[in-house]
Amino acid sequence: MNSIRTLQGGVNLQGKINVPGDKSISHRALIIGSIAKGETLIEGFLDSEDPLSTADCLRKLGVNIPNIIKDQPFSITGLGINAFREPNKILNCGNSGTTMRLLMGLLAGQEGKNFILTGDDSLNERPMGRVSKPLSLMGGKFFGREKGTKAPISIGGKRLKGCVIGTPVASAQVKSAILLAGLNASGTTTVIEPASSRDHTERMLKAFGADIKIRGELGRNVVIKPGNNLVGQKILIPGDISSAAFWMIAASIVPNSEILLKNIGLNPTRTGILNVMDSMGCNYEIVEKSTIAGEPIGSINVKTAKNLRPFIIEGEILPKLIDEIPILTVAACFCDGVSEIKDAQELRVKETDRLKVMARQLRKFGAEITEKEDGLIINGQSKFHSAEVDSETDHRVSMSLAIASLLAKGTSKIRRADASGVSYPTFWEDLAKLTY
Ligand code: S3P
Repeated sequence: MNSIRTLQGGVNLQGKINVPGDKSISHRALIIGSIAKGETLIEGFLDSEDPLSTADCLRKLGVNIPNIIKDQPFSITGLGINAFREPNKILNCGNSGTTMRLLMGLLAGQEGKNFILTGDDSLNERPMGRVSKPLSLMGGKFFGREKGTKAPISIGGKRLKGCVIGTPVASAQVKSAILLAGLNASGTTTVIEPASSRDHTERMLKAFGADIKIRGELGRNVVIKPGNNLVGQKILIPGDISSAAFWMIAASIVPNSEILLKNIGLNPTRTGILNVMDSMGCNYEIVEKSTIAGEPIGSINVKTAKNLRPFIIEGEILPKLIDEIPILTVAACFCDGVSEIKDAQELRVKETDRLKVMARQLRKFGAEITEKEDGLIINGQSKFHSAEVDSETDHRVSMSLAIASLLAKGTSKIRRADASGVSYPTFWEDLAKLTY
């Protein structure tokens, strides 16, 4: 990954964009389709590096997934819950935490079969104990570096037993791994989260016929019963709000801009950024609201807003905008005053340490940012000058820095810019299309 992109500041953004499919839902469509009986038809799949890593691993496990071609619907035939093949190759999850963590849950209960998972340099340093530890309580067997908490990791498939598990972090990847394991365990499994994380797994499992119930305060308890009774479905994947977020903030802060983002997923566990945009005083409207495949969607029209107010992000909203913190940090640089992001320690174990990396890179443009243990303090009204910045291999950092460059005077360069391909393969084409 050595690509350099050169961007000119002082432009305007105008136009309409169909952002690519939701990454979280794309992974789940493949995984849940693979364990259902019969055919699952998938439309709007995100053909970026992360979901393609999931497809590659599932193929090695014996699932017949056709060659995925951009914008073309495809179908897969599920194997049922217990029929994965013991692969003769290592399962490479690339940069994708969702692939590795959900597969750990899926494979832990494949009795008598063994699997090895690995990833790229970033993924092999990310914490996997948050999944291997709760799954071990269910009888799962994990071996690997640092007592089975870091990949490469091997899994010895065992008969699992259902458990009640309280997770210390609100993570949809952890919750989903436990739910997938619970589907193939004896007895009932309950996951209790400290705050609600995205619920795409629950929605999709329910649509496929799983016995899954949401209980407790704010729906933080999820109860699943085992069963090999999932039936293939048609899944229409909406645009990813985490990809739309770059344009939502860009249109708000780049002068004389207006962008219409078509068919964006508006699942309430993902829309924390809209709450922040409300408190900033952004100028946007949601039109054409509807529901597809159990997920609310709508188109979002965003126009430039002046005198944006600073904001505070803290507490239970974090999981609802966890992937949007890098671009919200850019937004904060252009608010009238001091913004603060707290309770965001999770950002330190993403594809990079996003608190450190965003502070380090944005300072190169002249941003005033103080890094705290659990967040950032950003002094707004920054006047950005041009700079040479680096994604440090992180897709969301790359795209956030691209938007920041549009506000910088002169020509800026982004090193390792093509990290964006992890979640948004057409980002640079879309940027060129919108730029005037
Ligand atoms: C994801 C959950 C989030 C998010 C990631 C995708 C998912 O991670 O940051 O990009 O698809 O479940 P955590 O569950 O670790 O917070």
